[in-house]
Amino acid sequence: MSEAKLYSMLKEDHDTVKDLLKKTVDEETDKHFKTLVQELEVHMEGEEKHFYPELEAKDKKRVLEAYEEHRLTKQVLNELQKEKTR
Ligand SMILES: [Fe+2]
Repeated sequence: MSEAKLYSMLKEDHDTVKDLLKKTVDEETDKHFKTLVQELEVHMEGEEKHFYPELEAKDKKRVLEAYEEHRLTKQVLNELQKEKTR
């Protein structure tokens, strides 16, 4: 896969998640939550498997920050999912 194609796919994922978050806030609903979680999990796994290893040689600090962002995102999603099952 070309670098341009990879960036394009990642941007599409980001736009999808932003759209789901906006709908969730605007509509004051959680009906998009499951889709949001699925989109984020697949996206983060893809970045960690295919993008970050390539980027790490060029910008290790940025990759470490990105892993931390993912760790926090997973923690928040986990907490939200626990809240929904209470
Ligand atoms: Fe991303």
